[in-house]
Amino acid sequence: MNAPVKHTSDITDAEESLAVQQAQSVTDSDSATELAMQNTLLTPRFYTTDFDELDAIDVSPVREDWDNLIAQMVSDPNKGHFKKNEDWDTVDWEGMEPELKKEFIDFLVSSCTAEFSGCVLYKEMKRRGSNEDITQLFQLMARDEARHAGFINDALREAGVAVNLGFLTQKKKYTYFRPKFIYYATYLSEKIGYARYITIFRHLQEHPEHRFHPIFKWFEEWCNDEFSHGEAFALLMKTDPKLTSGINVYWIKFFLTAVYSTMYVRDHQRPAFHKALGVDPDWYAHEVFTKTSALTKQIFPITLDIEHPRWQRGLERMQKANADMAEAKGLKKVVAQVRAVAAFVSLITIPVKKHATPASVRMEPAY
Ligand SMILES: [Fe+2]
Ligand SMILES: [Fe+2]
Repeated sequence: MNAPVKHTSDITDAEESLAVQQAQSVTDSDSATELAMQNTLLTPRFYTTDFDELDAIDVSPVREDWDNLIAQMVSDPNKGHFKKNEDWDTVDWEGMEPELKKEFIDFLVSSCTAEFSGCVLYKEMKRRGSNEDITQLFQLMARDEARHAGFINDALREAGVAVNLGFLTQKKKYTYFRPKFIYYATYLSEKIGYARYITIFRHLQEHPEHRFHPIFKWFEEWCNDEFSHGEAFALLMKTDPKLTSGINVYWIKFFLTAVYSTMYVRDHQRPAFHKALGVDPDWYAHEVFTKTSALTKQIFPITLDIEHPRWQRGLERMQKANADMAEAKGLKKVVAQVRAVAAFVSLITIPVKKHATPASVRMEPAY
């Protein structure tokens, strides 16, 4: 019997999604997969953690918010959304300016890897856990990330490249993070992901002439998934007040600074991409940080002072040091590395803004 070919946008099980992707991987290109295999400070990584500790979380302190969030995710508002339809305009990959094409493919590969990194981590938690609340949440999040990664790969395939996700799962290096670091890093990446997607979407709503590829039309529903994922991690952190107080506040500051500055440096490596979008990367970074800071006030007792005079200067120093690091060799490379570390230190020593967090964390997407 021949089952009809399913599309990843309709699939609710991440394993099945991966199998569909795997079946398509005959056309996947080595260069894109190689790019996705890279493990540098600036490329998306795969994570593993102490799954037993995660499995032991008791969500009863946040039960009401938890049940509401899960019910919303179970209702699956985006089922079938991540699929090309009549809104998918023909893309002129051949006619695309080479520099833009290179940066845009780099953007898609890096986004696909980041989405898939979430999928792999969430899927593994679902597989290893026995706590029904936790496994259900992670299964739902893995479902979403598998669709996101699959959709980006659909877009890449039109350009004759795609990431071999099955190969990545087996061969990419996994970085171990303690559960609390997974909470901070993943929560932040979900919320910053929301802020990034919605900022581009709103900008292109106002300037449709800059929408050089149809995938941006999908960003609104897309970012709502990321928003929900972020909410889930906020609730997980809320179950244990120790995670967001005492010494851990320093860890939160570290993750905020690392995630923000990495985004800044990475985006500045794609000038042609931002020019085509009609977006000034400095404006974009500031906008995304402002939105992310407003969101993270739901759970983090501090936000970074991104208006501090040293903030923008530090980011620029870090970006220049990174650019030099990529070019230089030998001693010059070491000097550039030291400059990058010094820039990071100057950023992380900026005094933070403190505030009280609300009793209930639940938020709705507002941008
Ligand atoms: Fe995603
Ligand atoms: Fe997500």
